[in-house]
Amino acid sequence: MSLLRLLTESGHDVRVVPTRSALQFVGAPTWAALSGHPVHTEVWDDAHEVPHVRLGREADLVVVAPATADLLARPAHGQADDLLTSTLLTARCPVVMAPAMHTEMWEHPATVANVATLRGRGVVVLDPASGRLTGRDTGPGRLPEPEAVFAVCRRVLARGAAGPDLVGRTVVVSAGGTREALDPVRYLGNRSSGKQGYALAATAAARGAVVVLVSTASLPDPAGVRVVRVESALELRDAVLREAAAADVVVMAAAVADFRPADVAGHKIKKGDGAAPTVALVRNPDVLVELVQGRRPGQVVVGFAAETGDADGDVLAHGRAKLTRKGCDLLVVNEVGPGKTFGADTSSVVLLGSDGTEQVLTEAPKEQVADAVWGSALTRLRLSTR
Ligand code: CTP
Repeated sequence: MSLLRLLTESGHDVRVVPTRSALQFVGAPTWAALSGHPVHTEVWDDAHEVPHVRLGREADLVVVAPATADLLARPAHGQADDLLTSTLLTARCPVVMAPAMHTEMWEHPATVANVATLRGRGVVVLDPASGRLTGRDTGPGRLPEPEAVFAVCRRVLARGAAGPDLVGRTVVVSAGGTREALDPVRYLGNRSSGKQGYALAATAAARGAVVVLVSTASLPDPAGVRVVRVESALELRDAVLREAAAADVVVMAAAVADFRPADVAGHKIKKGDGAAPTVALVRNPDVLVELVQGRRPGQVVVGFAAETGDADGDVLAHGRAKLTRKGCDLLVVNEVGPGKTFGADTSSVVLLGSDGTEQVLTEAPKEQVADAVWGSALTRLRLSTR
């Protein structure tokens, strides 16, 4: 119901097509009142209007939320025994499905196969969120928050004819600044907000990718994204390298600390009366370089470079040198400093390609930067699989 409200309040004309089971939860009169349109479940209702064909033809987007295991199985097999599944067969617009079910059902080979079939046909099937399910159990299977599903719908509609072009691709994105513990209370950190990484994950999901977000940030989970929470550079490295094994694209948007305290105190460091303590640091591994060294054939690796100009060169000169040094396919260079990029909703970046390409985006929303990164990564993926 919240999703319906979000859609209607943002000016969309929404037809609700409940299944017979859905009516067990909320009755047709409520859906009709909230949407402002008559509500039908069967193709026989108002048959003179041939509603399944009309609905499918008129829609700019069909969103199925929640999609039960049954609601994934029926369209995967072309079954059309009610108005919703019939509409899914007649629709030629983008389709977004937000599965929600118990973890065992989501992980069952039958459901896995049905999801793969639907994704193979270009349907945006969002991975469910993890958490408390309807019983006492917890795990993957929750319907993402309505705001997050709405955000996917908004992005899919905004893409229009471009459609979900990352369907069938798996991507890994790292986001946020790492926290390097000094003691159980304190850490060394940095100013990264994680917003760019979250925008990358959210846009990839709306473009149909299977998305893993390795994050240190505590922003709301984007819909359809599996979030792996980490804190330190070493935890982030383990998670990214593990997830990268199955990925077509890996984007290192995280601000990974180059150094960590050599020793982590097991108790809170007391100020005492003596001199201020000295913190010895040791180097962290460079995850991006490790990714490049271990990359699978055809895999695209993208880095970010937060730069300030200095006596040795301007921001772009540093960016070009870093692209060569790190050996990644694409480097997103942005200028950092007070008031620039950190925590902001827009950024000015240059996308440097290892093939010499340069794409400039000025004061662009982070979603737009994200879309440009995916566009560029996709071009490289297509070239490598030709
Ligand atoms: N990066 C990484 N592991 C590190 C440090 C950075 O994977 N230990 C990645 C970042 O996620 C980013 C890219 O490398 O994608 C560049 O990060 P940046 O901090 O700009 O570069 P540094 O490697 O720290 O280089 P420098 O200190 O020379 O600026």
